[in-house]
Amino acid sequence: MKAVRIHNYGGPEVLQYEDAPRPQPQAGEVLIRVHAAGVNPIDWKVREGHMKDFWPHKFPLILGWDLSGVVEEIGAGVSRFKKGDEVYCLPDPTRNGAYADYIVVREPELALKPNSLHHIRAAAVPLAALTAWQSLFDTAQLQPGQRVLIHAGSGGVGHFAVQLAKWKGAYVFATASTKNQDLLRELGVDEPIDYTQQRFEDVARNIDIVLDTIGDDTQERSWSVLKKGGVLVSLVQPPSVEKAKALGVRAAFVAGHPSGAQLAEIAKLIDSGELAPVVDRILPLSEARRAHELSQSGHTHGKIALRVNNGDGTLEGKQS
Ligand SMILES: NC(=O)c1ccc[n+]([C@@H]2O[C@H](COP(=O)([O-])OP(=O)(O)OC[C@H]3O[C@@H](n4cnc5c(N)ncnc54)[C@H](OP(=O)(O)O)[C@@H]3O)[C@@H](O)[C@H]2O)c1
Repeated sequence: MKAVRIHNYGGPEVLQYEDAPRPQPQAGEVLIRVHAAGVNPIDWKVREGHMKDFWPHKFPLILGWDLSGVVEEIGAGVSRFKKGDEVYCLPDPTRNGAYADYIVVREPELALKPNSLHHIRAAAVPLAALTAWQSLFDTAQLQPGQRVLIHAGSGGVGHFAVQLAKWKGAYVFATASTKNQDLLRELGVDEPIDYTQQRFEDVARNIDIVLDTIGDDTQERSWSVLKKGGVLVSLVQPPSVEKAKALGVRAAFVAGHPSGAQLAEIAKLIDSGELAPVVDRILPLSEARRAHELSQSGHTHGKIALRVNNGDGTLEGKQS
C-alpha cells in the first residue's frame, strides 16, 4: 500500500510518500480502507519529536490520527462491524496512523460515519470533535445557560466546541482574528472577539468555562475572566492547580482519547444538522508536506483533510 511515513523526526521534508506493508487485523481489530485522513496539529508535533517522551512510537511511523473509510476485514471477535461498513475514527495515537491506504484500529475506537457526510468531511471530525466533546461535557460538565469562552473558535477544535456549546444551550464568547469574525458568527457565537483588536478579558466576564487552545499568555490572562467555581480547561499546557485553588476555580488539562461510543453520538448530531465540520483545505495524500506546513502556520480555519485512495474528492476546492 501507499503511506506517508517518517523514518526520523524533523521538518516537513521527513514525510515520505512511499510503499509500506499492509497491516493485518488481530483479534478485536478492524482493517479499514482509508478514504480520507484528517490533519491535526498533533501530526506535526509528533513529526518534530515533541511527543517522543510520552508515546512509544517506532520508526518508520505512519502519521495521522483521524480517518473515514470502509471496513475491509475484521479480526476474530469483532461483532459490531462488517466488511463494507462506512466508518470513521480517532485511532489510538500511540500506534500507526491513517496517512495510508489501510489502517488497523481497535473495534471500540470505531463508529459508523455520519450518513450525511462524504468521507472527506467525515475524516475532519473525530479528533477535534471528540476533544471538544470531552473537554466541554466530560471535564467541564457544561450546563445550559452557562457562559463559555472558546479561544480560537475558528480552529479545528474550536469550531466544534462552539457548535457543541450552543447545542447544549450555552452563551458563547469566542476569539479569532479579523478574517474569521464572520465564521464565528456563522457558527453561532454570541459574542465574537477579534483578538487583534480587543483584549478578550475586556469583553468576556463572569465566565463558567474557558477552553484554552492557545496556552502561554492567553492561558495566563484567562484566569481573570472566570467566575468563582468556574473551570479553565486547557488542551495545550496544564494550568496551575495552585493558582486555581487561590482563585476558587478549577483547572484541568484534557488529552482527547478515542471513543467509538461518543463518535456515534456526534454522528447523530451531524445527521440531524446540529453540528457540521468546516473544511478549509483538501489535498491528496501525496501532498502531506503541504498540509503540515498549512497546519503549522496556526491560521487555517476549520480543518485540513487528505484524500486517500481517490476517496470522495467531490468537495475539492470548496471551503466547507
Ligand atoms: N490535548 C488534546 O487532546 C488536544 C486535542 C486537539 C488539539 N490540541 C491542541 O490544541 C491546539 C489547537 O488545535 P486545533 O486543531 O484547534 O488548531 P488549529 O485548527 O490549527 O487552530 C487554528 C486556529 O487558531 C486561531 N488562532 C491562532 N492564534 C490565535 C490566538 N492568539 N487567539 C485566538 N485564536 C488564535 C486561528 O485563527 P486566526 O487565523 O483568525 O488567528 C486559527 O483559526 C493545538 O495546539 C493542538 O495541538 C490538543
